[in-house]
Amino acid sequence: MEQDIDKLKTQLRKQEKLASLGLLSAGIAHEIQNPLNFVINFSKMSDKLLKDLSEIVDENKDKLDEDDREDLNDIVADLQENMQKIVEHGERAISIIRGILLVSRGKEGEFLPTDICKLVKEYVWLSYHSMRANTKGFNLTIHESYEESIPMVMVIPQDLSRAVLNVMNNACYALWRKSQSAPEGYTPEVSVSVKVVGSELQISISDNGEGMNDEVKQRIYENFFTTKPVGQGTGLGMGIVKDIIESKHGGTVSFETTEGEGTTFTFTIPIKK
Ligand SMILES: Nc1ncnc2c1ncn2[C@@H]1O[C@H](COP(=O)(O)OP(=O)(O)OP(=O)(O)O)[C@@H](O)[C@H]1O
Ligand SMILES: [Mg+2]
Repeated sequence: MEQDIDKLKTQLRKQEKLASLGLLSAGIAHEIQNPLNFVINFSKMSDKLLKDLSEIVDENKDKLDEDDREDLNDIVADLQENMQKIVEHGERAISIIRGILLVSRGKEGEFLPTDICKLVKEYVWLSYHSMRANTKGFNLTIHESYEESIPMVMVIPQDLSRAVLNVMNNACYALWRKSQSAPEGYTPEVSVSVKVVGSELQISISDNGEGMNDEVKQRIYENFFTTKPVGQGTGLGMGIVKDIIESKHGGTVSFETTEGEGTTFTFTIPIKK
């Protein structure tokens, strides 16, 4: 009995520590976002200024001798490349920070009026950037179709964004897998669409990746079911998605898939006023 109590106490202390660690990292992540945004925005502005500068050099090329003109052009080109690197890596850092914020936000989500297209777009691109940061030499094309003037919809934004992220992460992975064995000329593509049908919101994410066989189709929502190698997937993603869309939002998750061809996931969510 006493041993049990001691065990519980240690467990509790551990959990408290973890919780405060979570809050601390969320706080830090939040604070870093702002200066990082400055870095990115000023680099973008400098990149534009460099374009202006090279136009001026062009207009005045008769006044410069050939060598000087070449040097100047080279320097401007190098600077532009550097600026783009700063933007690219800054954006990578931002997406890492968003990830930290996502997991360390503890409290139960509430329904809030939400701009769904903005949310979907943000998390589709977050997934894309973190995939790009982790897989060298792989790229994909994203097609987006967002119905205009969708009114604000009541959803739990932190949960819905997690659902979009999970599905998009899976799509990216399926594309990457297919690209490993696909014939030359294969373009990995994702199509995202958000629209209102009747009194329901429809969010769909399609990929032309590896698709699923019958076993995967049947077990996809099972917790800990994964086809990914150890360390790369826990098999919880789709279970969480189903819980978020169906239990929390009263909607449905459906999918269509063809092995070797691709997969489409659709969330249907009733619009609450
Ligand atoms: N778009 C997709 N294309 C092909 N297979 C998919 C797709 N989405 C899911 N799957 C299959 O369903 C399985 C379960 O997906 P789920 O997201 O639940 O777990 P996971 O991605 O393996 O791990 P994680 O917990 O990191 O998300 C995947 O391992 C994969 O085999
Ligand atoms: Mg997953």
